[in-house]
Amino acid sequence: MSLTVQEIPLEQVYALRNLVLRPNQPISSCHYEEDQFEGVFHMGAFVEQDLKAIASFYPQNHSKLDAQNPIRLRGMACDPCSQGQGLGTVLLRQSIAECQYRGFDLLWCNARTSAQQFYKRLDFAIKGNEFMLSGIGPHYLMYKAL
Ligand SMILES: CC(C)(COP(=O)(O)OP(=O)(O)OC[C@H]1O[C@@H](n2cnc3c(N)ncnc32)[C@H](O)[C@@H]1OP(=O)(O)O)[C@@H](O)C(=O)NCCC(=O)NCCS
Repeated sequence: MSLTVQEIPLEQVYALRNLVLRPNQPISSCHYEEDQFEGVFHMGAFVEQDLKAIASFYPQNHSKLDAQNPIRLRGMACDPCSQGQGLGTVLLRQSIAECQYRGFDLLWCNARTSAQQFYKRLDFAIKGNEFMLSGIGPHYLMYKAL
């Protein structure tokens, strides 16, 4: 199996965002306002030629986190047929290296509670209490020093 991770254009993230993160919602729900902000980039994991996992990165601080140059992870998703095979881990590890290369010093995300183990295995820590995001469900603020 040939697995590659590379930066991808915004247009390529919509299909997996829709399928995995916003099923049964219009594709417009997958257009995040922050996608248009300066410095945003998107990473994808391909098996052969097929895009199987995505993640997006937004230079953005968080009032509860102390950092000089923080970056936010959103839209982390792996194709349901390929989940649990390590693709998300490989994608996030290589994306973390890319964030470090770009000079960011802290990575954070609002992690779905269901995915917290995934982030913990990559040495993310939890900050604060569980909270609800309307229409999506329970989350934790999670972060990792880079
Ligand atoms: C979370 C997600 C991106 C992880 O990608 P993945 O390729 O499936 O993850 P990996 O195969 O690299 O998993 C590594 C570990 O994370 C854990 N894990 C992965 N997905 C999980 C999930 N949905 N719930 C709980 N734990 C999960 C597993 O414990 C796994 O460890 P193991 O190998 O010891 O079993 C993917 O499962 C996904 O798209 N889930 C649905 C959308 C979602 O929740 N996205 C995150 C939003 S914050």
